[in-house]
Amino acid sequence: MTNIAKGLEGVLFTETKLTFINGTEGILTHLGIPIQEWAENSTFEELSLALLDGKLPTASELAAFDADLRANRAVPAELLDIIKAYPKGIHPMQALRTAVSHLALYDKQAEDTSDTARRAISVRLIAQMSTLIAAINRTQQGEEPVAPRADLTHAGNFLYMLKGTEPTPEQSRLFDIALVLHVDHGMNASTFTAIATASTLSDQYSTAVSAIGALKGPLHGGANEAVMDMLDEIGTPDRAADFINAKLDAKEKVMGVGHRVYKYFDPRSRVLRDYAAHVAEKEGKSHYYQILEVIEKTVVDRLSSKGIYPNVDFYSGTVYSDLGIQKEYFTPIFALARISGWCASVNEYERDNRLLRPDAVYSGAEGAHYIQIQDRK
Ligand code: ACO
Repeated sequence: MTNIAKGLEGVLFTETKLTFINGTEGILTHLGIPIQEWAENSTFEELSLALLDGKLPTASELAAFDADLRANRAVPAELLDIIKAYPKGIHPMQALRTAVSHLALYDKQAEDTSDTARRAISVRLIAQMSTLIAAINRTQQGEEPVAPRADLTHAGNFLYMLKGTEPTPEQSRLFDIALVLHVDHGMNASTFTAIATASTLSDQYSTAVSAIGALKGPLHGGANEAVMDMLDEIGTPDRAADFINAKLDAKEKVMGVGHRVYKYFDPRSRVLRDYAAHVAEKEGKSHYYQILEVIEKTVVDRLSSKGIYPNVDFYSGTVYSDLGIQKEYFTPIFALARISGWCASVNEYERDNRLLRPDAVYSGAEGAHYIQIQDRK
């Protein structure tokens, strides 16, 4: 009997120095540094550069990278016109997948697959993904895109382009932390897809488009949108425990809990919980947070024996929602952060590339012969 690793679970196909996950103890590190330390001390810009270069940057390296990102934020006006012409009512992930593919057409270096070109394109992709998502959001609502500003941080500029008003420093920092928490997460489906595409020596834009396609599926991105639907259905904190108990009695899944890798608290959910609590207290938007507190307690009481705990999606939706972001944009925001992880993982793999070509056990017919169409039954 040949063993098949369904879903490639447990299959090791490469080495990485970027991200380590211990699901039993709820540990996530980048370059060996715990995610909590990145969230507390660092920024999206710094973590992106650290993963691209495989080391903590010096102050001057970070300043140069940051300046490069700021200088590359604008996307071609022709592309903005194309985005404006997208049909209304499409899912923003459809629009993003198409827009990133379009973006490649305006980049003279797009077909260059050398290490240097991949690195330069990574910077442009990281900088411009943000502009594309904000433009999609605004044009889908019939509004004009807001041009990027070079005097704001990556997180602050995204919120500015989305709303057309400058966010407070606290809102920018909160969003920045949410981005930091989503930058990379080992060999998840979209990162693996990006690497599979790059392993054929395809170009950097194609790896990003493939990864966006993989992230789009509800088993990968999208659970935080489902958490918000659940919170709206529950309505008030006093209804939460009964709602969850009834769901669990009916053997239904609770959204935002459980994880294929983590069998303990997802460390990213702990960081987001603390910030969600802070926002709820400070801005008085305690409604969603109070419901989540009750759900977390009920779920941990009933499911911790099965290794089921809140995952990153449990609190991220409320943080985004408190920042005034519509729930259809939660998955594009995941892509906004993960583009750095995709690029860093692709660039790392490409330095010692081997075409990915797994195999399947053949279980079809044997010894068959072609039958003329008029003789088939
Ligand atoms: N709610 C209730 N029970 C659950 C949940 C849940 N969310 N997740 C798992 N369980 C139960 C299962 O029913 C099973 O119970 P049993 O042993 O009595 O049959 C047990 O816990 C083990 O579950 P598995 O399905 O084996 O866990 P798996 O690792 O395959 O599932 C998954 C992980 C798919 C994420 C699942 O937990 C789930 O559907 N969660 C809800 C959706 C979600 O939040 N997804 C986001 C994941 S994080 C991310 O993508 C960034």
